[in-house]
Amino acid sequence: MRKNKQKTPVILENLRVEDFAAEGKCLARNDGQVIFIEGEVAPGDLVDVRIFKTKNSFREGRAIAVHEFSNVRQEPRCQHFGTCGGCKWQHIQYETQLDFKTRQVRDSLDRLAKVPHPGILPIIGSAQEYGYRNKLEFTFSSNRWYTDAEIASGDTLERRAAGFHIPKRFDRILDIEKCHLQPEPSNAIRLAIKAYAEERDWTFYDLIKHQGFIRNVVIRTASTGQVMVIVQFGEPQWEAINELTRYLQETFPMISSLHVVVNEKVNDTFQDQDVIHVSGTPYIEEQMEGLIYRVGPKSFYQTNSDQAYTLYKITRDYAQLKGDELVYDLYTGTGTIANFVARQAAHVVGIEYVPSAVEDAKVNSEINGISNTSFFAGDMKKLLRAEFFFEHGKPDVIITDPPRAGMDADVVEAIIAAAPQRIVYVSCNPATQARDVAMLSELYEVKAVQPVDMFPHTHHVENVMWLEKKAQ
Ligand SMILES: C[S@@+](CC[C@H](N)C(=O)[O-])C[C@H]1O[C@@H](n2cnc3c(N)ncnc32)[C@H](O)[C@@H]1O
Repeated sequence: MRKNKQKTPVILENLRVEDFAAEGKCLARNDGQVIFIEGEVAPGDLVDVRIFKTKNSFREGRAIAVHEFSNVRQEPRCQHFGTCGGCKWQHIQYETQLDFKTRQVRDSLDRLAKVPHPGILPIIGSAQEYGYRNKLEFTFSSNRWYTDAEIASGDTLERRAAGFHIPKRFDRILDIEKCHLQPEPSNAIRLAIKAYAEERDWTFYDLIKHQGFIRNVVIRTASTGQVMVIVQFGEPQWEAINELTRYLQETFPMISSLHVVVNEKVNDTFQDQDVIHVSGTPYIEEQMEGLIYRVGPKSFYQTNSDQAYTLYKITRDYAQLKGDELVYDLYTGTGTIANFVARQAAHVVGIEYVPSAVEDAKVNSEINGISNTSFFAGDMKKLLRAEFFFEHGKPDVIITDPPRAGMDADVVEAIIAAAPQRIVYVSCNPATQARDVAMLSELYEVKAVQPVDMFPHTHHVENVMWLEKKAQ
């Protein structure tokens, strides 16, 4: 006889949620054991939790019922909240979100870096709690995620969707009626493309079989008011593609840069695909203090433009430039920080992995009449060596803005060997920043710590640290 392998679910009842935890979760305790909780919970709630993972020292689960609501809660604005993974903290008051982000930075410094610091400056919140993103990517798919309400309605279930991936599900798309993250015409354009495709009975991309015509759309809305749209298709049906682009041009005259991509690969990134420029300018422009940044379809640009400006001003303040310094901007991306500080420095060297980003960085210097920058493409740990410093000079100031993984140990060692007077460390992950700062602390002391919130209603936090060479 076959054994029934189905286990009875473990449900822990009436747990008082104590605090936030890493990665946007919350935590409670059951008989002293830590329980990490996913789902719509807030510190102070009284909840039931269905356990899905048990380890020796902790368990993980999902909140399935809330008996008492915490007073740090607020009404989420978005109709898709709870299903969409985009802004998981909408039910928590913004002030509470900011307090936790500050605490995350402090805890990382105290517990991981264990270095003395002058205290954490009050976090700078985003002036816009919604509508702060300048870029969103929506997927068209025939693999729609059905909400409980759709299933309960008893209506025939529509298979097509245009929206976002369900968390942890590469194969299911939540249909989005209105997203509050990006200003209009973002919703209007997505909805219009979807309606146009439905009326013509176009096939929506099937994420499992990898076939179908309309695939996704990237919409970029610059702070200058310029709008870029990139529509991606899974099949080269040019007549239909041209019809849609004509329709978009007529219906949305504010689209200043229109592109299409025919992508027949399995994954939907178009970094390695031909992007065909259809109309308007091939790029849109962002502006900061009179500096113009060109953003092409493949270019990286910080997704919250207003807070990026705040972040860069802090970075420049901490760099304390007088005009005669050689500055290195590590992980420069499209050279945004390098160009931002160039007028206050003798020369800025930017280093970045992605060759096309380096090309963008050079163009951004050129169009702004900046001639004291040079940019190099390559892997940081291979490039940043004694020979590089010998050839391009030892920096007086290093600005570094690595990805979430932080800096490779070789890179930290190279920085220590170069021994600049000052380091400004911009980070989107306080834990890896703390780890790197611990290594740097043999030579550097922490002068200032300034968290900045780029992404309201998410657990992400950006942090800028000023490190100064210790007096010998
Ligand atoms: C957080 S972004 C910094 C962006 C830029 N400072 C800005 O504000 O626009 C990190 C950058 O590091 C680059 N990067 C990641 N790993 C790298 C590596 N091993 N070597 C060089 N650059 C790398 C990424 O391509 C990305 O552009």
